[in-house]
Amino acid sequence: MDKIIIHGRHALAGTVKISGSKNSALPILAATLLTEDPCVIQRVPDLSDVHYMLQILTHLGADVERASGIVTVQAEKVNSIAPYEIVRKMRASVCVLGPLLGREREATVSLPGGCVIGDRPIDLHLRGFEALGAAVRVHGGNVKILAPSLRGATVSLKGKFGTTVLGTDNVMMAAVLAEGVTIIEDAACEPEVVDLANFLNKMGAKIQGAGTPRIVIEGVKELHGAEHEVIPDRIEAGTFLVAGAIAGRQVTLTRVRADHLTAVTDALGSCGYQVAGGNGTLAIHPNGAPKSLDLKTQPYPGFPTDMQAQMCALLATAKGESSVTECIFPQRFMHVSELKRMGAAIELDGATARIHGVENLSGAPVMASDLRASAALVLAGLIAEGTTEINRVYHIDRGYEMLDEKLAGLGAQIERVKV
Ligand code: EPU
Repeated sequence: MDKIIIHGRHALAGTVKISGSKNSALPILAATLLTEDPCVIQRVPDLSDVHYMLQILTHLGADVERASGIVTVQAEKVNSIAPYEIVRKMRASVCVLGPLLGREREATVSLPGGCVIGDRPIDLHLRGFEALGAAVRVHGGNVKILAPSLRGATVSLKGKFGTTVLGTDNVMMAAVLAEGVTIIEDAACEPEVVDLANFLNKMGAKIQGAGTPRIVIEGVKELHGAEHEVIPDRIEAGTFLVAGAIAGRQVTLTRVRADHLTAVTDALGSCGYQVAGGNGTLAIHPNGAPKSLDLKTQPYPGFPTDMQAQMCALLATAKGESSVTECIFPQRFMHVSELKRMGAAIELDGATARIHGVENLSGAPVMASDLRASAALVLAGLIAEGTTEINRVYHIDRGYEMLDEKLAGLGAQIERVKV
């Protein structure tokens, strides 16, 4: 298990290139199961979650090749059973359900367990499959889905906490090969859903409306191979913008989609930072300590839950009182107790973190608990006085490509130590 050691308070400056999106790449790789032909996916980030997905595809019978960010998958034949030993490593494995159901008319996938960011049910995914005519049975820790025929239908994916991103992906991937027209109401509008729909359309699917709450899918008989480049990772980009705000002179991101980051750049603007760019770049200009802010996470285009922990780290040293309310995963506050060990003054009040800005954080040994919480601790370490030691770094490697090397390239005093 590696650790990351950061000596804080070194200014960051320079340019950093944003990698392909994890949350786009995972369902897009799963979608390659929908055809016998080869598919070529470019700018696939080198992350352990991607590695798990490729293992699952291989287990399901696909030939997978990978060379410098380009992954070729050919699934001439597939088997439709994904067992626990493979699926348990990553919750996003559930997104093979849709393509298996679409292609094989059946799928058995071990149910994902709980996760530190909270309860993560898949009832909305199953609601979608049932609407298409599938029978769903949960037994022995597995979900088994059977649909001798799949028929287009209208289904709403609205749940207690809003819509579902991977649920929208899953229903879309099953519906592309259903008979007739499927309408997904209350669909997730995230850019990653649009990226998947674009890839599916390149494969011959007929999907309209992705990026809006109403997606219309006209089923086709079969799909063919396609090439696709994954969109830039907006959460990695947002994390580097916060790094620039915290410890920057000027940090410039390249290969970024500014239009996917409006909620984040607006929030940073409200904290007093100027973020501007064009032509695939975005720069953040430092402006001292942030102003306080009241923030709520929301489905896209609202402020992303995947940036909530990083904003808590930033606001820990804001002037005055801030509040951060988590509306998607109300328990996603594992970073708070670790930030408090670094001197942050944060109280949890249900799903709201009340943050009383302090002048300084101090370095401390801390424990990474999940991907974005870990990113928040790295950010806090950049601004803290002294040395921060982050344990359980494998959480970071699930979703950030070379985070330590990229930060070192900007001037951070950061090193990875093999334990
Ligand atoms: N939910 C249900 N029933 C369902 C599905 C979801 O009640 O059937 C609830 C969830 O418990 C949660 C809310 O609906 O309260 C939204 O969950 P969603 O299904 O949208 O999450 P997801 O699709 O499983 C993706 C990302 C997450 C990101 C969320 C929200 C991937 C691989 N994962 O998860 O990313 O937080 O959308 O935007 O795309 C991360 O990258 O760190 C990460 C956790």
